[in-house]
Amino acid sequence: MALVGPSPLLDNPFATVLGDLREERSATVSFPPGETRFSLARTRRFNDDPLPLLLEAYERFGPVFTLRLFHGNVVFMIGPAANHYMTVSHAANFTWRESHMRELVGLMGDGLLTIDGDFHRRSRLAMLPGFHRERILASVDVMVQETERALDQLAPGERFDLYTWTRRLALRIAMRALFGLDPDGAAARSVDAAGLFEQALSFFTSEAALRMFRGPLTPWARMQQAARSLDELIYSEISSRRGSGERGEDILSLLLDAHDEDGSTLTDLQIRDEVMTLMFAGHDTTTSTVAFMFYELAHHPEVVGRLLAEQDAELAGGGAGGRPNPAQLMSGELAELEMVFDETLRKYPPAWVGPRRSVEAFEFAGCTVPGRAFVNYSSWVSHHLPEVFPEPDRFLPERFTPEAKAALPKGAYVPFGGGSRTCIGMRFGQLEIRTIATLLLSRFTLSLPEDFQLEIRQMPTISPKRGLPMIVRSRPPRETQSLRSSMSSVHRG
Ligand code: HEM
Repeated sequence: MALVGPSPLLDNPFATVLGDLREERSATVSFPPGETRFSLARTRRFNDDPLPLLLEAYERFGPVFTLRLFHGNVVFMIGPAANHYMTVSHAANFTWRESHMRELVGLMGDGLLTIDGDFHRRSRLAMLPGFHRERILASVDVMVQETERALDQLAPGERFDLYTWTRRLALRIAMRALFGLDPDGAAARSVDAAGLFEQALSFFTSEAALRMFRGPLTPWARMQQAARSLDELIYSEISSRRGSGERGEDILSLLLDAHDEDGSTLTDLQIRDEVMTLMFAGHDTTTSTVAFMFYELAHHPEVVGRLLAEQDAELAGGGAGGRPNPAQLMSGELAELEMVFDETLRKYPPAWVGPRRSVEAFEFAGCTVPGRAFVNYSSWVSHHLPEVFPEPDRFLPERFTPEAKAALPKGAYVPFGGGSRTCIGMRFGQLEIRTIATLLLSRFTLSLPEDFQLEIRQMPTISPKRGLPMIVRSRPPRETQSLRSSMSSVHRG
């Protein structure tokens, strides 16, 4: 049987909203306690700054609560047990496609992230070989080359936007390593993929009411415009590969040759949807993580000292310009860097909310939740519970020593989700972030302009709202560094 995707979602947002309201009214069990009266202020607050709102609701109502947002009730399930329930033990009772983030289907189509059930399971199986350890390890050369190329554009004393810089870098890496696409070839050069993704994703930060309209000049039209330009790039690569028969080790080659038990292959549209999904998921999260990591490092010179001392000791050649080897990057054996990475993903997990819709009514922590309800888990909120991560607002990489990490309760730390929908690109993303961070630190130290205030944009992933301006400085020479790190370990001791 061929891989056949789901039927299209309703194209009329007003009809969709009516359908949601009808389903909410026909619920056969009550919603969990919470704020269930319409409030524009609450909806705005959720759009602008959801973390404190959700933490307050958790304090008042416990691990499962309801907030009326936009036009309807949304249930949140927070904390280790809730994360485990939704992603692992009862994952089959939740779908992604009709969740409150269903508008992403308008950009990505029916790629892995937004599909469910048997279609999801089989699509994932078809793509898994592209994410095997050896395949990922083979991408390290591209990651190193591209990062060094991007670093060559920076010079001490300069000010640049780290967020935009990383987005461009991560997209070039994704194009080359995942799809075998030449970012300097004629087709790729004719589109500004990073700019187009910015344009497409700005749909999700526009006013909820404006997102309902579909005519010209609407946020939706801008998103569609950007998607069509990205499509041209993807379709031209598909057609040129189909025409030439050329194949590589990349995921596009894998998708072009994937076939079912009955021999049927994927259509161009199915391949386009997977490529678009991977391009989006494969660069956006990485970009935010690098940006938040260096934002925190700029506030914690003592942590930078430890990272540089680790580089001096562990990287081939040591000191400034010391080079990591692929095995070091893949295994995460640079222990200080690993703790910084884990703590960054605790404090700022880019894919901060796991949007779902319940299939059947269920009971959790003594509360009932209706079937067909919007239900979300949230790593960001769960990672800020003081009973699980004391002093959650502080950036403390030492929370993630291997022993402390192993002692965390099941479901407590879920930056990559869990169960059958665990991030398929986790190893790729980890390798990429370690590579970018290691090479950046080995060449430069970054600091923030004094007047910079971090504001976070939350949709569809969390990222610095207005980019991340950084000032480039040379990496301190080895002697100063060793002195600083020995002082900081005395301090720690
Ligand atoms: C720091 C980097 C990354 C983080 C924190 C991250 C996080 C996540 C999370 C939390 C999910 C699950 C969402 C849910 O439960 O609704 C997810 C799914 C996914 N991620 Fe990532 N991701 C990262 C990098 C990547 C990369 C590099 C790729 C592609 C190369 C990728 C591709 C995907 C895909 C396709 C899915 C859907 C998987 C499925 O449903 O089967 N991600 N990611």
